Amino acid sequence: MGSSRLSRNRKALLHKVRYALRHPGRVPAYVRRSARDAVLRVKFRGDHVGYYRAVMASDAARSAEAAVGGGPSVKRWTWIGQMQFDYLVEHGLAPGHRMLEIGCGNLRAGRLFIDHLEPGHYYGIDISPDILIAAKHTLVRYGLQPKLPYLTVADNLTFDFLPDAHFDVVHAHSVFSHSPLHVIEECFAHIGRVLKPGGFFDFTFDRTEGEEHQVLHEDFYYRTETLVGLASKHGLAATFMEDWESRPHGQSKIRITHAEVRADGRVKADGQVKADGRVKADAP
Ligand SMILES: C[S@@+](CC[C@H](N)C(=O)[O-])C[C@H]1O[C@@H](n2cnc3c(N)ncnc32)[C@H](O)[C@@H]1O
Repeated sequence: MGSSRLSRNRKALLHKVRYALRHPGRVPAYVRRSARDAVLRVKFRGDHVGYYRAVMASDAARSAEAAVGGGPSVKRWTWIGQMQFDYLVEHGLAPGHRMLEIGCGNLRAGRLFIDHLEPGHYYGIDISPDILIAAKHTLVRYGLQPKLPYLTVADNLTFDFLPDAHFDVVHAHSVFSHSPLHVIEECFAHIGRVLKPGGFFDFTFDRTEGEEHQVLHEDFYYRTETLVGLASKHGLAATFMEDWESRPHGQSKIRITHAEVRADGRVKADGQVKADGRVKADAP
């Protein structure tokens, strides 16, 4: 990822004008999204989940594949799902693990996790009933009924309906890129309870090295140290996943663990993670 991309403020007028000149074909879609944003932010004042659920309803009505990002192309949908799956398998996701996917969408990656895991070991939650209906169609399309995955609509990230210390792996791809900080904090405040000791929670985010900003109420750009600091406030350790950066995805990835366990599974003596999200090299 180039450094100019990481310092860019997409909210700035100059950026918008330059972008429109470079991509005139994308202007009508941006105007449509802005008009929708204006209506929805009045309707759902302060209720981000309600707002984003309405965005998903509107996007999913056009195309479920496009609603989860990357455009309507099935080839791209398949490729992004495969990239998520391959990464977690390389990091040890095994059939016996129990997995929670936050913001599972229409199972772009979930269908591969479900196929890989033992029956009943996959739990997908999402705020959007519309995308979960599309997720059920994905289950049928790929013949995954015998795997009996759980798919549940959520209206917050407290996980209050889930058991303690249950999940080996929690995954959230392109969810916090659409979440204000208070939603991420709610997740951090509660995820430790449902995560098994030694388990991990990976999430992607849109990273900026400049000013933190948002585009409409849909896309949010954070500095790594903001998210690392927030995790630490809730007794969690956060590791910036350098090996994800080489994948052509555009977002960055952070791994959350209980504070005493490092991303590589080793116990940390000092629990320290540097401000840029990397575990201190001298930690044992
Ligand atoms: C860009 S899509 C990605 C879907 C899926 N993770 C994937 O990679 O295909 C984001 C998904 O997160 C869901 N979402 C957004 N905010 C959420 C929240 N606070 N809790 C649960 N799901 C959320 C959206 O409804 C949407 O399905």
